[in-house]
Amino acid sequence: MHETVIPVSPDWAEGALINRARYEEMYAQSIADPEGFWRDVAKRIDWIKPFTKVKDVSYDPADFRIRWFEDGTLNVSANCIDRHLAKHADKTAIFWEGDSPTEMRNITYQQLHDEVCRFANTLLAHGVKKGDRVTIYMPMIPEAAFAMLACTRIGAVHSVVFGGFSPDSLAGRIQDCGSTVVITADQGIRGGKTVPLKANTDLALTQCPDVKHVLVVKRTGAKVPMMAGRDVDYFEFAATMPTTCKPVEMGAEDPLFILYTSGSTGKPKGVLHTTGGYLVYTAFTHEVVFDYRPGDVYWCTADVGWVTGHSYLLYGPLANAATTVMFEGIPNYPNVSRFWEVIDKYKVSIFYTAPTAIRALMRDGEEPVKSTSRASLRLLGTVGEPINPEAWLWYHRVVGEERCPIVDTWWQTETGGILISPLPGATDLKPGSATKPLFGIKPELVDSNGNILEGAVSGNLVLADSWPGQMRSVYGDHQRFINTYFRTYKGKYFTGDGCRRDEDGYYWITGRVDDVINVAGHRLGTAEVESALVENTKVAEAAVVAYPHEVKGQAIYAYVTLKAGQPVTDTLADELKKFVAEHLSPIAKPDVILFTPALPKTRSGKIMRRILRKIAEGDTSNLGDTSTLADPSVVSELIERAKQTS
Ligand code: WT7
Repeated sequence: MHETVIPVSPDWAEGALINRARYEEMYAQSIADPEGFWRDVAKRIDWIKPFTKVKDVSYDPADFRIRWFEDGTLNVSANCIDRHLAKHADKTAIFWEGDSPTEMRNITYQQLHDEVCRFANTLLAHGVKKGDRVTIYMPMIPEAAFAMLACTRIGAVHSVVFGGFSPDSLAGRIQDCGSTVVITADQGIRGGKTVPLKANTDLALTQCPDVKHVLVVKRTGAKVPMMAGRDVDYFEFAATMPTTCKPVEMGAEDPLFILYTSGSTGKPKGVLHTTGGYLVYTAFTHEVVFDYRPGDVYWCTADVGWVTGHSYLLYGPLANAATTVMFEGIPNYPNVSRFWEVIDKYKVSIFYTAPTAIRALMRDGEEPVKSTSRASLRLLGTVGEPINPEAWLWYHRVVGEERCPIVDTWWQTETGGILISPLPGATDLKPGSATKPLFGIKPELVDSNGNILEGAVSGNLVLADSWPGQMRSVYGDHQRFINTYFRTYKGKYFTGDGCRRDEDGYYWITGRVDDVINVAGHRLGTAEVESALVENTKVAEAAVVAYPHEVKGQAIYAYVTLKAGQPVTDTLADELKKFVAEHLSPIAKPDVILFTPALPKTRSGKIMRRILRKIAEGDTSNLGDTSTLADPSVVSELIERAKQTS
């Protein structure tokens, strides 16, 4: 197979923060002496009380612990704001670009300080204390960032729920972490369409009797019902609040935030990150992966509802006193040049987005890109799903004009920050490969029995040691954390990803090996989509698999059996798609629904998803071993129906 290699350019080799020799030296040191390595890296953070212990980790389920810098204390908001004020009070912290190109805000570090303090004081006035959980269900407006940072200032634990989730999903997340305060907006606005955030919150709260206060930030000004005694007009209240608020001293291992993510089974897990290690790791990786320099304008297009929006829109960049762009809109509104126009408007030098956006924009050709300058760009990044070489090469040639290296960054909600990625001045690039491990990261490939595989080989990706940004627990269910990640392969963290390593030691992530699917960079569990489907009274059983999709990477294929006597009408498939959008999220809407009288099951009643995947992919030539099926005729029936549906 021919592989393109794009070597580090002489400019980058010379001018980069970290060149090849330095990467190799630092990597070797980080593996040989992790304590020494991270002790030095952690100096970039201002500690209130310095730590004396660096690392205390055991992946043995019987004696489990992950602790970093555990006796140090710090405050995240003070690190992201206050310590920059002496030099950077007037520097832009956030360039906010609204959904409409005519709306923008420029927030300096001083203003960020004042607004975060106002928000923190508002939370305190509503009884929020250190350790309390606060749910944030917001559009991409600066107040979402202020709210998150305000939580960290007073030691509250935020749980941001993506604004695209349904009232049911929001309710489940509020209940799971026991928030008594919810922060939302009247409405969101994306691509010219409004999102009924307050109305969704009201619906969710019919299931959440413990919520005492809802802080409502005005975004569109739409008239929304306000429940007396519960709902608070945020701006009205905050106007009376002082713009100073003392940051609370937090232990390095105190919880920082919870972020729900989908697993292969059950309801979404509350991934818990803690304070010290997370901040050290995101700040450090933001600098080294993006070769961040003080003059850069940095833009990560992720929503704050996802981990990328936490680590690389907010915490990493702000800890580094960067100027970060926050964008409320979508790539194709009001036109398909929007990304590139925003880059020109703010002179963005580092741009970080998802493969799905690149694939979608590719379809509109080169003209909408070439009509813009993009002269400010020097580095590009991708995240969230594997990027196909064709999209990579287009991004490189058309968007970056072959001048900008691309960092394909592999990581997960659980990992807190980037683990496998090129460094732009150190790593020759191969389109489609996340390339090499970052400092302190020990990737290994194992077979299904846990044997370590050497050399150029494919296997399951595990990590043999800890890093400071690693998640510490599943909120409220520590055993689930241990069982999910540390029991499959003894002494290792199991990522859930399959991966190939080539002759040069480069890693190529091939996608999930469990029942997690990735639709347009959004992570979903097949079980969640199935349970949304069976909530519908017409549905008896559902099995969901992913199939390859040109733009979204993966799309959702749902096999549905109906309850006895339930006819398949012309409108039923659309009705069920809408049902899933409303009960789970529009991002979880099945692309294909296939009605079938039965699902292929083993004699013990287990659905054979392998077969369903093959049929969804249209690859029925070799279905593998079907001898364990209870009723093999189900398969030929399914293949027939799939042909009619496609
Ligand atoms: C899963 C994690 C990382 C923040 C956004 C997604 C896939 C992520 C890459 C990449 C190939 C990738 C993996 C991973 N993934 N980045 N560069 N190349 N696959 O976080 O929602 O927790 O999803 O996304 O399958 O396990 P997430």
